[in-house]
Amino acid sequence: MTSPRRLRLYFCLFALSVCSVLLVAVGCRQSAPPPAPPPPSPPTSEGAVAPQAALWDGTRMLSEAEAANYLGDQACVRCHEGICEKYAGTRHARTLAPVTEQSHGDMFRSGQKVHDPVLNYTYRPAVENGVCVIRGESGGRSAALPADFAFGSGRNAITFLSREHPDAWVDLRISYYTARKRWDFTPMQKPGDRVFERAAGIVQAGERLVACLQCHVTYLRADVFGAPDIQRSHLGIGCERCHGSGREHVETVERAAKGERVPHFAIENLRKATPERINQICGVCHRTEENAKPGEFKTENGLARFQGVALARSRCYQVSKTLSCVSCHDPHADSDPDPASNNALCLKCHESPVPKPPQPDSPNFAQSGTVCRVNPKSGCVECHMPHQTIATIPHAQYRNHWIKVWERSQRR
Ligand code: HEC
Ligand code: HEC
Ligand code: HEC
Ligand code: HEC
Ligand code: HEC
Ligand code: HEC
Ligand code: HEC
Repeated sequence: MTSPRRLRLYFCLFALSVCSVLLVAVGCRQSAPPPAPPPPSPPTSEGAVAPQAALWDGTRMLSEAEAANYLGDQACVRCHEGICEKYAGTRHARTLAPVTEQSHGDMFRSGQKVHDPVLNYTYRPAVENGVCVIRGESGGRSAALPADFAFGSGRNAITFLSREHPDAWVDLRISYYTARKRWDFTPMQKPGDRVFERAAGIVQAGERLVACLQCHVTYLRADVFGAPDIQRSHLGIGCERCHGSGREHVETVERAAKGERVPHFAIENLRKATPERINQICGVCHRTEENAKPGEFKTENGLARFQGVALARSRCYQVSKTLSCVSCHDPHADSDPDPASNNALCLKCHESPVPKPPQPDSPNFAQSGTVCRVNPKSGCVECHMPHQTIATIPHAQYRNHWIKVWERSQRR
């Protein structure tokens, strides 16, 4: 069976190849996109599936041989244009980027001073000679560090790092908080927090730098000195962070397009993945009980932002056995704040007093048979996934993914 979606894709591939032939024929070689191959023959046996992707866990830089298998998001555009276009604007894709006057100048120019009475230090964001900097002043002396990279697309906060050496970046002392539209101390760097070595901030160097970057990049390559080679790394989260390196997939599709018989297209089909597999892929960064141990202060204090750990505690997850991050989130889009669509997600399982197994049109959902006695129609997320703050992170709110009956006082 060939699905309509697959037919559409084959048609696109075919149309693209015709177009590029025409473009070359009329002499537009320079502006023509790389030609897409003609439609590939479908895999030889429907039953054969590509093996699970070997995903980079972020704890080290890739070897040259491994990195050569990563093609970058641009390489997916000619065959997956719709997803690529939608994905490029997401917070995932933008979560780590170089700072320019154009991208971040306004928040530096209009920023207010932040004073640390303990160190007797004053910090001020500014744009000096076209460069975004944080200037520190104390006892008549003053020094500035450029903000080279921005962590965070701005949902709650943006933290800036200054690259003093290729292998040593300073996590600057003050951050920009989006909802308040103001600057304040970076998490863990409040006056009196003594974890930072210098007034400028926390130095991230060597292995610690890789550990800091790991969840905000697709992959890191090393330069000859063993420092992250930014030009040849992929900052921000791209397709291949969740799908694995793409070279074999693209080469296989191209071979199939030439008529060669292939058993599968050499890429894991995540639509068919188990909820555990999905939660594990997302949980490398959004945490699982493996990388955020239950009971530890860091886990329990940060539970509201450790979605993988919190979800695993929910009866919805434990009992339904079908719930995963992608039951409620489109992996290629930002989260949806619309209460009506979020209520609808809960109601897919909690609308009917009769339990029902997953239906073919909604395989991620099984009717639990339990309906809310308080409000069976709306407000689900406000009461059962409350917005909470985290003691160590100022001015930020997270939806606790432990879906349960919360005490009113815990719904902050
Ligand atoms: C030359 C065309 C081509 C390129 C380039 C390409 N793909 Fe594909 N991709 C395909 C085809 C054809 C399929 C099969 C479509 C189907 O079965 O619905 C596919 C399927 C997929 C699937 C679904 C797997 C499945 O079994 O359902 C994923 C995920 C995917 N591609 C990711 C990527 C990523 C990531 C890139 C960039 C690194 C990429 N593709 C580049 C042609 C391409
Ligand atoms: C490589 C690490 C990484 C992986 C893997 C990852 N995420 Fe994220 N995710 C992040 C980071 C970092 C952010 C914060 C982006 C920002 O605002 O800068 C984020 C943000 C989000 C958001 C909030 C977007 C918004 O609207 O503010 C959602 C929802 C999300 N991720 C879901 C997922 C799901 C679902 C998966 C698995 C399919 C996943 N993530 C996999 C790192 C990751
Ligand atoms: C284990 C994975 C992981 C590591 C390591 C990590 N982050 Fe993140 N970071 C995330 C995820 C997931 C999000 C999005 C959800 C959230 O805020 O919890 C995020 C979000 C952020 C945000 C945006 C917060 C917001 O909600 O707007 C900033 C800023 C940030 N991280 C900075 C850093 C800095 C600086 C480091 C290194 C010192 C770092 N992160 C290390 C996973 C990680
Ligand atoms: C945060 C992790 C993540 C990122 C980043 C990501 N994907 Fe996916 N992708 C998934 C998951 C999970 C699924 C399965 C979704 C489902 O079950 O509905 C999927 C499904 C797909 C599919 C098959 C289903 C479909 O909708 O046609 C294709 C093709 C695909 N992704 C391509 C891409 C491309 C191209 C990019 C980069 C532009 C990308 N993905 C980025 C996690 C991700
Ligand atoms: C995939 C189906 C599914 C989805 C989606 C789902 N739940 Fe559940 N939920 C269940 C099952 C199964 C149980 C446990 C058995 C029961 O109570 O029926 C449960 C239990 C609960 C409980 C009782 C928890 C406890 O500790 O006793 C609450 C409250 C709840 N769900 C609220 C929600 C809300 C709110 C949403 C949307 C954010 C939601 N659920 C989404 C399946 C689901
Ligand atoms: C039952 C539905 C449901 C499931 C399952 C779910 N989420 Fe969410 N998630 C939500 C809702 C609703 C929001 C709030 C959306 C908004 O306001 O933008 C949210 C928000 C988020 C955010 C934004 C930051 C925050 O906390 O408000 C992140 C990141 C996120 N989810 C990640 C995940 C990850 C990772 C998983 C899997 C471990 C997951 N979610 C599973 C419903 C769900
Ligand atoms: C005003 C807050 C509020 C809203 C809105 C709300 N709930 Fe509840 N819900 C509760 C409370 C409190 C309980 C516990 C009631 C009890 O024990 O009698 C509960 C119980 C539940 C239970 C467990 C029932 C049981 O008998 O174990 C489920 C499932 C549930 N809610 C789902 C939902 C869904 C789905 C929505 C949205 C359609 C929703 N709730 C809206 C507060 C709320």
